[in-house]
Amino acid sequence: MRTVFWENNELKMIDQRVLPVRFEILAYRGHKEVAAAITDMVVRGAPAIGAAAAFGLALAGYESASSLTSGLLADLQTASATLKAARPTAVNLAWAVDRLMAAASTVSAERSADEIRQLVLDEAQKLADEDVEINKRMAEHGAALINDGDTIIHHCNTGALATVDWGTALGVIRTAHEQGKKIHVFVDETRPRLQGARLTAWELEQYGIPYEIISDNTAGYFLKAGKVQKCFVGSDRTAANGDVANKIGTYMLALAAFDNGVPFYPVVPTSTIDLSLAHGDLIPIEERNPQEVLGLEFEGQRVAPINAKARNIAFDVTPNKLVTGIVTENGVAYPPFEVNLIKVVKQ
Ligand code: MRU
Repeated sequence: MRTVFWENNELKMIDQRVLPVRFEILAYRGHKEVAAAITDMVVRGAPAIGAAAAFGLALAGYESASSLTSGLLADLQTASATLKAARPTAVNLAWAVDRLMAAASTVSAERSADEIRQLVLDEAQKLADEDVEINKRMAEHGAALINDGDTIIHHCNTGALATVDWGTALGVIRTAHEQGKKIHVFVDETRPRLQGARLTAWELEQYGIPYEIISDNTAGYFLKAGKVQKCFVGSDRTAANGDVANKIGTYMLALAAFDNGVPFYPVVPTSTIDLSLAHGDLIPIEERNPQEVLGLEFEGQRVAPINAKARNIAFDVTPNKLVTGIVTENGVAYPPFEVNLIKVVKQ
């Protein structure tokens, strides 16, 4: 089953907030509800967000009452802004919406409003199908870097749930496993929303890949002890120079990997590479509700004092000097990334 799919004129998505306790599919008929679902993290992970926004735009087409192409395009433009504002860091969101808008605008002079509605839906479906195919290609390139017997640290959730299907970094691990390589995964639990402990562990369980959950601050211990051969992570936006924005904690993992000479590979579809940004300091970083940090419980009790304040930075940027190679669907880019990343993107 796909994480994000179109069925009976509705967008359907696995509700990632309730996994692994419950498996539920939610259905959407309006683009504003889709935008809210992205913000609330019903759906999360850069490529999954992109696909959800694409289908959200298709819904906006059917919500528009306009029989004129110009009116429909204006309504789609308004919906685009709403969808793009749902989360700031993952560039796939804007990339997907812009791709659909460009497809609609290009043919607007010669197509009726209904034809444009259908075109936007077709393009959203194409984008979703391509995501699965791209992930599988990327996984082949990444799996070639994994040796039989490797222990791998993985951060956040980058699996089928973070994409339309298969996954990015976890897709690499899954493909290596299917190739018969014996691997062990240390799953960073990924505070504060615990995408690792809840979602990655749930996925690995189903694929039959051996794993152990570790608290995020344990990674350095195992890296220093020589127990880890590689780190694989995803990315929400990678700048032209190879600086990689990903889930908060990725930077600290990369530092510890670098200090211990352990290769660190972000797995990044080219739709996540933002060549318009020269370096990672220009990437907008989402700060979420402090309640996600303060609401954590231990032994049935709230952890923080009742008046405590918190900061909830959702992503950080790993500088390119800590990155061994960037795995894409077109192959692996190695330093100097300023030169080599553009080559894999433009292939
Ligand atoms: O806040 P999230 O859960 O959307 O963050 C997800 C990540 O950071 C992933 O590593 C990233 O989207 C790339 S994986 C496909």
